[in-house]
Amino acid sequence: MNIVIFGAPGSGKGTQSEKMIQEYGLHHISTGELLRDHIARGTHLGKVADTYISQGLLIPDELIVELLSEIFKEHPEKAAKGVIFDGFPRTIAQAEALSKMLGEYGTVIHAVIGLEVNEDELVRRMLERGKQSGRSDDNIDTIRKRLDVYHKQTAPLKDYYLTAGSYHSINGNRSVDEIFEDIRKSLDPYKEK
Ligand code: AP5
Ligand code: MG
Repeated sequence: MNIVIFGAPGSGKGTQSEKMIQEYGLHHISTGELLRDHIARGTHLGKVADTYISQGLLIPDELIVELLSEIFKEHPEKAAKGVIFDGFPRTIAQAEALSKMLGEYGTVIHAVIGLEVNEDELVRRMLERGKQSGRSDDNIDTIRKRLDVYHKQTAPLKDYYLTAGSYHSINGNRSVDEIFEDIRKSLDPYKEK
């Protein structure tokens, strides 16, 4: 089972991924975490990514797709066993590249879990996290930019996956456990297959 967890910055993608890992034993690939790890290690990719992330902008598609394809080459078992993609894809071009990559391993995206959260709540959560996270993008100016980028570049993916018939809309304004209960209801039918 390959799942995309989809939603605006601060919508709870990372939080719900942790619960899905426990429940379904899937691998977790968060492009944001991978990039922050590169930044912490001071790699070339990390240095490039840092300039985009701190401004709230997306890293160019080619760099992200390259990062993903290297992971699959190094760990083919991930593609085979099932992955939760968190923060990827973020553009139509990335979604097309993902579908092509998975196709090479004979698999597809089975379901997209879309966390829908009000804008005020998103800002509140990220400002709250920013007190401790040390993330260069958890400040009000960068949060506003990230939301703007989300609406322009990422939100159109919702229609892309609705057309593909795999999009499950989840009300993400509630408690972590209530949200997860709905995710479980959406994913259980795929588990059976
Ligand atoms: P990324 O790391 O993916 O960040 P994001 O999408 O901005 O989302 P967050 O990680 O901030 O939020 P989340 O949805 O995971 O929510 P969380 O569970 O943490 O990307 C960062 C940057 O990297 C991008 O801006 C871009 O520059 C670059 N990048 C990454 N992927 C890329 C790609 N594919 N292409 C190009 N560039 C890419 O929750 C948020 C907070 O709320 C937490 O404190 C949590 O404890 C709390 N919380 C969670 N759920 C609830 C709840 N139900 N009620 C109350 N509080 C809650
Ligand atoms: Mg996250």
